[in-house]
Amino acid sequence: MKKFEEHLIKEAEKLNNLPSAGREGNVGWESPSNIAFVKYWGKYPRQIPANASISLTLSKAVTRTRVAYQYDPQKTGTSVKFEFEGQRKGDFANRIEKYLSGLTELMHWIAHTEFFVSSENTFPHSSGIASSASAMSALALCLCDIEQEIYQQEYPGDFFRKASFLARLGSGSASRSLYGKMAEWGMTASCKESSDEFAIPVPELHDAFKGMKDSILIIESGKKKVSSSLGHDLMKSNPYAKLRFEAAEENMQQLCKVMQSGDLGGFIDIMENEALSLHAMMMTSSPGYVLMQPNSLEAIHRIRDFRGRTGLSIGFTLDAGANVHVIYPEKQSENIRQFIDNGLKVLCEHGTIIHDEMGNGPVRI
Ligand code: PMV
Repeated sequence: MKKFEEHLIKEAEKLNNLPSAGREGNVGWESPSNIAFVKYWGKYPRQIPANASISLTLSKAVTRTRVAYQYDPQKTGTSVKFEFEGQRKGDFANRIEKYLSGLTELMHWIAHTEFFVSSENTFPHSSGIASSASAMSALALCLCDIEQEIYQQEYPGDFFRKASFLARLGSGSASRSLYGKMAEWGMTASCKESSDEFAIPVPELHDAFKGMKDSILIIESGKKKVSSSLGHDLMKSNPYAKLRFEAAEENMQQLCKVMQSGDLGGFIDIMENEALSLHAMMMTSSPGYVLMQPNSLEAIHRIRDFRGRTGLSIGFTLDAGANVHVIYPEKQSENIRQFIDNGLKVLCEHGTIIHDEMGNGPVRI
């Protein structure tokens, strides 16, 4: 077992004398999604990543989650009711219940609590924005708040680190949504404090990256054809997996350097290499699959052509889907926004583009 998890289990054991008084209350958090520049793709049991990753925390794409809870030490059992945007969702409630039952060793009180979770997203459903990252980080933060209320004491350690750990168990990329600006998750030689168990905020960020923009081209909305859990799983038998994990570590090290020096050209090279490598892994899995669409490729060509002609620092990245994230610095946003509207909008489904940017991380609501 990993070090931080052992520490959390010991802390939970110390709190083993469950508070005898029942308690009920409401907590709420708003938490953002994120887009990775170095991608996490492939994992070991209990959501330990095969390589380190780094991401931009978004600002407008957030999940708002409220949890009403009822803790009663006399009753045993966890129950969950879940509502998404006002509609009861039984399948999600079951998923949350499964997630919570996996946490009882770390949070004994969960086994005596009823939860009513209600959640909403500010971004359209199936838009290719990672909703699991914002949703799981918001839920993890709510759990940390409920724990503080039940025990009537503040968590003595780093609250966000614990929330990042819990969010990771729900969805790996969610571990990075706990911090503003940029976050790093996974052991890497480029960062001494890095851990496979939780994410940390990226400490040094050159001015060139502040306020970074992400315009998301919705090439195709709709449910993912291949889930990321299946994608991660297929990496186990991918013949290029070992090389990929090594290349990701190399990219982490290079990216950390360019983020300190402010080398936007170097940044774009690494970011685009990462996006194409992620999709190469999908194509070389068995069975192989292609998530990009003709218009994803057309957008990539147009972005590179525009960059070549103008010398502006515009680049792209992709998540596990067809949509293209156009990444550019705040300082050049005027010219680049014009190009996006005139040159890329036509490639999008119903002309849909979501303009987002670097955000400040979660807030209590
Ligand atoms: O957190 P998961 O299991 O949904 O995996 C996310 C994987 C990518 O979004 C493709 C990459 C990443 O690092 O966010």
